[in-house]
Amino acid sequence: MKYTKNKEFIGNMFDEISPTYDKLNHLLSGYQDNRWRRGAVKYLASISGRYDNILDLASGSGDLGMEFLELNPKRIFSGDLSLEMLKIDKEKLPNDINQPVKTEAEHLPFKTGYFDLCGIGFGVRNFEHLAECIMEISRVLKPGGKFVTIEMFKPLKANIANRSFRLYFEKVLPKIGNRMAKSEYAYSYLFESVDNFINIAEYSAILQKCGFKILKTKNNFLGIVNSVFAEKL
Ligand SMILES: C[S@@+](CC[C@H](N)C(=O)[O-])C[C@H]1O[C@@H](n2cnc3c(N)ncnc32)[C@H](O)[C@@H]1O
Repeated sequence: MKYTKNKEFIGNMFDEISPTYDKLNHLLSGYQDNRWRRGAVKYLASISGRYDNILDLASGSGDLGMEFLELNPKRIFSGDLSLEMLKIDKEKLPNDINQPVKTEAEHLPFKTGYFDLCGIGFGVRNFEHLAECIMEISRVLKPGGKFVTIEMFKPLKANIANRSFRLYFEKVLPKIGNRMAKSEYAYSYLFESVDNFINIAEYSAILQKCGFKILKTKNNFLGIVNSVFAEKL
C-alpha cells in the first residue's frame, strides 16, 4: 500500500475499523489513551472557566468529546469525515448537548468566531492539508479561544526507549491491530502516519504562523504522544 492522506481513503478506512476502534485504541495504548485525554481537559479547566461552544474535530467515536463534558459546555459539535465513527459518537454523548457533523477539517460549516474551544485527539497527522485546516480552526475560534491537540509526533530526539517503542509500533502493533480490526492495512497505516508526520517543534511553528500562541506542551509518552495547548491571538 502506498502511503496517502487522501480524504476518501481516510474516511473509508475509519468507516471500516469503526466497530473495533475504541477497544483497540485502549488495548494498544496500554489503556493510557483516555488518561491522556483526561489530562488535557484537566489543564483546560485550570486555565479558563468558560467553554460554552466546543468543537471536537476529527472526533472519531467521541472519546475526547466525552472528556469535554467535564467542562460543562452548552454545545459540543463532533466533526469527522467518517459517518460510521460519528454514529458511535452519537450513541455515546448526550443528544441535548452533542451534534455530530460529517465534515472535513479543511472546510468547516461553522460561523467565524463561534467556538470557545477546539480539540483534536489523534487526528491532525491524518490531515491532507494541515496548515489549511489549522487556519480554518483559527477562523471558527473566538479571539482568546483555546485549541488543544493530542497527537503522536515524530520524537525530537531518538533514544533507546523511543527506538524500542518504534520497533513494537512498526513490527508488532500492525499485525495485532490489522488482525483484530479485520483490516489489511489500517494499523500498518497507523505506523506510516506517525513515521511520516512532523515533530512537535515543527507543529508548534505551524500553529504560531496560523495566529496561535503556544500556552503549554506536555509530553505524555516517550516524547511521542504529546498535548499542545494553544490560544488564538
Ligand atoms: C485516529 S481517529 C481519532 C478519533 C478521536 N479523536 C480519538 O481521540 O480517538 C482520527 C479521525 O480523524 C478523522 N479525520 C481524518 N482526516 C480528517 C479530515 N481531513 N477532516 C475531518 N476528519 C478527519 C478520521 O475520519 C478519524 O475518525
